[in-house]
Amino acid sequence: CGIIGIVSRKPVANRLVDALKRLEYRGYDSAGVATLDDGALSRRRAQGKLVALERLLAEKPLNGSIGIGHTRWATHGAATEENAHPHATHRVAVVHNGIIENFRELRAELEADGYRFESQTDTEAVAQLVTREIDRGASPREAVFRSLKRLDGAFALAFLFPGEENLLIGARRGSPLAVGDGEGEMFLGSDGIALSPFTESVRYLEDGDWVILSREGAEIFDENGAPAERAARRAVGRTFYVDKGNFRHFMQKEIYEQPDVISHTLSSFFDMANGRTRLPRGQEVDFSKINRMVLSACGTGYYAALTGRYYLERYARIPCDIDVASEFRYRESPLSGVDFALFVSQSGETADTLASLRHAKAEGLTTAAVVNVDESTIAREADIVWPTLAGPEIGVASTKAFTCQLTALAALSVAAGVQRGVLSRDDELTLAKALSEAPRLTNAVLKLDSLIERLAHDMATKRHALFLGRGFNYPLALEGALKLKEISYIHAEGYAAGELKHGPIALIDDTMPVVVIAPYDRVFEKTASNMQEVAARGGRIILVTDERGAASGVVKDAELIVLPDMPEILMPIVYALPLQLLAYHTAVHMGTDVDQPRNLAKSVTVE
Ligand code: G6P
Repeated sequence: CGIIGIVSRKPVANRLVDALKRLEYRGYDSAGVATLDDGALSRRRAQGKLVALERLLAEKPLNGSIGIGHTRWATHGAATEENAHPHATHRVAVVHNGIIENFRELRAELEADGYRFESQTDTEAVAQLVTREIDRGASPREAVFRSLKRLDGAFALAFLFPGEENLLIGARRGSPLAVGDGEGEMFLGSDGIALSPFTESVRYLEDGDWVILSREGAEIFDENGAPAERAARRAVGRTFYVDKGNFRHFMQKEIYEQPDVISHTLSSFFDMANGRTRLPRGQEVDFSKINRMVLSACGTGYYAALTGRYYLERYARIPCDIDVASEFRYRESPLSGVDFALFVSQSGETADTLASLRHAKAEGLTTAAVVNVDESTIAREADIVWPTLAGPEIGVASTKAFTCQLTALAALSVAAGVQRGVLSRDDELTLAKALSEAPRLTNAVLKLDSLIERLAHDMATKRHALFLGRGFNYPLALEGALKLKEISYIHAEGYAAGELKHGPIALIDDTMPVVVIAPYDRVFEKTASNMQEVAARGGRIILVTDERGAASGVVKDAELIVLPDMPEILMPIVYALPLQLLAYHTAVHMGTDVDQPRNLAKSVTVE
C-alpha cells in the first residue's frame, strides 16, 4: 500500500491524488483521501483503480489544506469501499501500510469497551485504539505514542485529527515512510518518488521512529520517545515516471529499454576500456574469503538469484545455498560455514527479503544486496550495495529489472572468479567481451517482436502452458511461466527439462503448449530428448533456440523463435526477452490489464 500526507496552507486534494498516482505501483485495488475543512473531517474513498477516486473527487471535491491519502493492496478484508483507507472515527483518520498482527485481540478488547467497528480491516483497530486514548483524555501525540506500543507487526501509519489543522503524525515499523521538507508545508510519503514533485529534501524514518509534522517542520522520535535526528537526502526528481512515451504499456516500454539499461548496469561493473571487472566504489568484497554463500529473494528476484547461483558456482566456484525469502527467514537453517548472504530486490522494500537480510545480519553474515532503488530500506541496511541501473520500473511484471539483475550477477561472478583464481585474466577478458554484447543482442531479439506476437495469438486461446529449460535456462523457464501467469492469467508452470518425465508429462496433449528454452549449449542434446517425449505425445512445442539449435532439426513441427548464437554467460539475459514478449502479447490479446494485473502489487511490504 502507498501512503501520502500533506500539511500546508494551500489546498491539498489534487496533490494527494498526484502523489497516489506515483504510489499506485504499491497497490491499486482501492484508494482514498481525507482532509480537514475548517477542522471537520471529510473522506472520499473508491473501490478499484485510482481513476475511480479521481472521478468521485470531480463530482464531490474536497477542500482543505491538510490531508492524508492511500492506495491499497488488500490484506485484511476485500477490496471494497468500506475497507478502503482512510479509516476514521470522530477523533482520528488513519492510513496504513503493512499488517497489524494482533488486531483481532485489540478489536475484541475495544468492542468489549463499547467501540463499534465499520470494516473488516486490521487498520480500523488502530483508529479505534487511538480514539479510546483520546476519549480518555490523551492529546493526539500521547494517544499515538501509547497506541503504537500496543501494536504488533510491520507497518507504516499516518494520522490526521479533526480539529487539528496543523498536525499530522506518522509512524514507521517495518514498512517504509519518509518525511519531505517543504517551505511552509510538510509531507509524509511511502517513498521519495511520491514526494519528488513537492520537495527535494527527504528524510527516511528508521524502524520504530514516529514523527510529528506541522507546517513549520518535523519532530522525529525513536521508539522510546527520545528525539531523533535523521539525515536529509536529496529525492531524485522522477517526474518522467508516469510517461509511457509512444508505448502502449509501461511493460512494453520497459521491455524495449533493456538494451540501454543493461548497458548502464554493465558499465558499473566493468571498466569497458580495458575489459576488466570492477565493483562499484566503496562496495568492494574480497570474494576469495567467502567459504559459502546464501542467496535469497522473492518472485522474479528469486529467479534472478537462482541464475546467480548457477553463475557463482560455475564461474567463481563459490558454493551457494538458495531459498525464497519467506522460507529462509523461518527455516532455522544452520548457517555454519556460511559467511556471506546476497539478496536480490528490485524495490528494496519486499518485507520477506528485508526480514531475511536482517536475519542474516543477526547471524553475523556479511550482507550484500543487488537492488534497483538506491534509497530503499534494503539498500540502506545491507553492508554492501550493488545497484542495478534499470531506472524506475512501473509495470508490475518485472522485465528490465530482472535482466539488469542477471547482468549484475553475471558480472559479479566473473569478478569473483578472477579474485578466487578460478578465472584467468584471459577468461575475464573473454567473458567481459561476451557480456558487453548484451545490449546489441537484446536489441536484435526485439526485432522478433512481430513473430512472437503471432505466436501469442495462439497462446491466448490456451488454458495452460509448460515452460522447460535446463542448466542456466532452468530459472528462465520458471520466470517465463511466472511472466505468463502474472499478466495473462493462463496457468503456466516452469520445470527443469529433466523433470518432465517425473510428472508434468502426464499433462501433455495437443491442447498444451510447451515452451522449451534450449540454445545449442552443453545440454542441448539432453533437452532435445525431452522435446521428443513431448512431440511423441502430441504436445505443441514453441522452441526458443539459436541458429545451431534450429539447424539441428530436432523437432519437425515446432514453432521456432531463433536467436543469434551467443556465449553461454549471455543466454539467461538475452533469452529472457522472447519470454517477456510472449507473455506481453498474449496478455494484450486477451485484453487483461497488463501493467496492473489483478491481485498483484509491485512492491509487497507485507509477509
Ligand atoms: C512482487 C512483484 C514482483 C517482484 C516481487 C519481488 O511480487 O510483483 O514483480 O518480483 O514482488 O520484489 P522485489 O522488489 O523484492 O524484487
